[in-house]
Amino acid sequence: MQIAMIGGGAVGQALGAGLIRLGHQVVIGIRSPSEAELAKPRSQAKPLAEWSAATGGRVASMAEAAAGAEVVFNTSNGAGSLAALHLAGAENLAGKLLVDVANPLDFSQGFPPFLIREFSGPTSLGEQIQAAFPRARVVKAFNTVANAVMVDPALAGGPHDLFLAGNDAAAKAEVQEIARGFGWQTFVDLGDITGARASEAILPLWVRLFVTGGSPAFNLHVQRG
Ligand SMILES: NC(=O)c1ccc[n+]([C@@H]2O[C@H](COP(=O)([O-])OP(=O)(O)OC[C@H]3O[C@@H](n4cnc5c(N)ncnc54)[C@H](OP(=O)(O)O)[C@@H]3O)[C@@H](O)[C@H]2O)c1
Repeated sequence: MQIAMIGGGAVGQALGAGLIRLGHQVVIGIRSPSEAELAKPRSQAKPLAEWSAATGGRVASMAEAAAGAEVVFNTSNGAGSLAALHLAGAENLAGKLLVDVANPLDFSQGFPPFLIREFSGPTSLGEQIQAAFPRARVVKAFNTVANAVMVDPALAGGPHDLFLAGNDAAAKAEVQEIARGFGWQTFVDLGDITGARASEAILPLWVRLFVTGGSPAFNLHVQRG
């Protein structure tokens, strides 16, 4: 499949590389895909020129990446995701599976971050993305694990779960199919896209577990009696 990553940080690079290893064609979309921009070091990720050389994936504008894709991943910064997806273009997202991996985190007061008020409470980033792009089939997924775990769930030991939320059952099944390719085995369906409120709200707990445990190689598992 042709897959776009809207956002070229650690997540876009890790998921993109993982999808290329599964045989997909991946284009990462960023705002200004100039040669100078591709050569620049990125926070917690390699320069995109190095990513391209290592994986064979391409880098383009957000609109070009989305236009050529059958499936789009939102791997942009949560605070800028609506802007990034507007740059990707509503027409280029229409009818497509849009996997929303972003978290609405505010780092303005340092670490640990907290949820951005505008995207929390009786709303969420996932819901606002679905409302802004009603023709996209938005599934909130992968946002509750570290990028290395997204594409290699065995890193967290087992068993552990991938949380999904979205209005379109077929779209959630497509995400599960992609995730199974990475080795994911168990899924927790949080219902329609309002379930994104719950999975985004896991982030403060995730960050705390990361700090106290000292490693991002962990995940949550729901055990029902
Ligand atoms: N790091 C993890 O392991 C992890 C795990 C789960 C979920 N997440 C979530 O995944 C997302 C990506 O995280 P990340 O660490 O890879 O990268 P990030 O630094 O949060 O985001 C990088 C991307 O966001 C784009 N961006 C930022 N502000 C923008 C704006 N105002 N308009 C348009 N685009 C904008 C940047 O575009 P340019 O390239 O053009 O600058 C860049 O490509 C985040 O929402 C994060 O919360 C991260």
